Amino acid sequence: MSLALEQGLSRPGSSSVRCLPTFVRHMPSGKEQGKYLALDLGGTNFRVMVVELLGSPQKQPLITVRKYPIPVAVMSGSGEELFDHIALCMLRFLSEIQLHPENMALGFTFSFPCEQSKLNSATLTQWTKGFSCSGMVGEDVCALLRRSLDKQGLGGIKVCALLNDTTGCLLSCSLRESRCQVGLIVGTGCNACYVENCRNIKAIPGELEGDMIVNTEWGAFGEKGEMDFIRTKWDRVVDQASINPGQQIFEKMISGMYLGALVRQVLLELVAQGLLFQGVNCQRLTLCQDSFETRHICEVENDPLGENDRCRMAMREVLGHNQVISPLDCYAIRLVCEEISRRACMVLAAGLAGLLRRLNLKDAVIAVDGTLIRCHPLFTLIMAKKITQLMGKGYKFELRLARDGSGLGAAIMAAVQANRDE
Ligand code: GLC
Repeated sequence: MSLALEQGLSRPGSSSVRCLPTFVRHMPSGKEQGKYLALDLGGTNFRVMVVELLGSPQKQPLITVRKYPIPVAVMSGSGEELFDHIALCMLRFLSEIQLHPENMALGFTFSFPCEQSKLNSATLTQWTKGFSCSGMVGEDVCALLRRSLDKQGLGGIKVCALLNDTTGCLLSCSLRESRCQVGLIVGTGCNACYVENCRNIKAIPGELEGDMIVNTEWGAFGEKGEMDFIRTKWDRVVDQASINPGQQIFEKMISGMYLGALVRQVLLELVAQGLLFQGVNCQRLTLCQDSFETRHICEVENDPLGENDRCRMAMREVLGHNQVISPLDCYAIRLVCEEISRRACMVLAAGLAGLLRRLNLKDAVIAVDGTLIRCHPLFTLIMAKKITQLMGKGYKFELRLARDGSGLGAAIMAAVQANRDE
């Protein structure tokens, strides 16, 4: 990972880890204030928010938020349909809270790899995480959003900034903690960003002084075979069944979009060998690709040791409600879940250690967010233990949960940028 990061920075386009410049060069002062709109698109839900920043790091921003599902058909429809759907949800949201958005600044958290030339212009380079809307790769995402907002009569909203969720996470943490230098998301996808000296980022045209946040897009690590030595046959099956085979290999070992599918593959093999679910009807597990979800792993591992209530409940959801699961089956299922989530923690800790070595910080604060890291009972703990082991006992670091990072980060960026435009 250290090498891939180095290469991504110094020879743009040559590494699986892209290290994309974000053009975010200033950390928030904490004094930002005013009401801003934020959009957060990146998982299966998308969120629309109004964030009121209160001008002091001690005062919690006021957030009004609505979640809207993105129908599967929209995720794989046209780009225009996706953005029209987003603009329509924005319209509904604004009328519900009776807010007139004329001249309001909007920050857009768009959590996919984008090449940026400035804060409010970003070209999508590829889709990840199950999205595949047509006509969008190579297009300016901010321009598409503006066009759809216009169609709904929302042209008065100023789209000021586009950022990745990792950047949002880092920014929202640095509101209160100036030492924060890394943002990490472990949710539907997995990615990290960090603060780098502009001199080292060769993809930036011209010469810039100071620091900039770099979006590593490290989920793609492994696309050049770097992870082949530990990939299993189950990893390969899950990869092949995805909509982007051969891509996002690191992410596919770690994130919420894939861990459930990995567990399912192992369970299916145990069933085929006659070692699991004797006398149980496994048709749903066998036939339905998405039957075992990552949230089921969290459920299973949330059972206190020796108890199986949550495991049984989860498996009834997976297999059908009249299925009876034996204690021995519960034990086996738990083992499989633990192995797969622990491997995710270890692989992630190794990646993070690679990044931390590069940063050479004495006292690192890493902002973290994402559904998996929030819902899994032991993810952070196991990851932290492994980081300590890899970095050495004397190394000081802290993993700090930055809830609502994506939305808050977008509002902060909108505030910073709107003030600059005035
Ligand atoms: C995927 C995206 C990346 C995002 C991450 C977490 O890896 O490519 O941009 O940050 O998921 O949502």
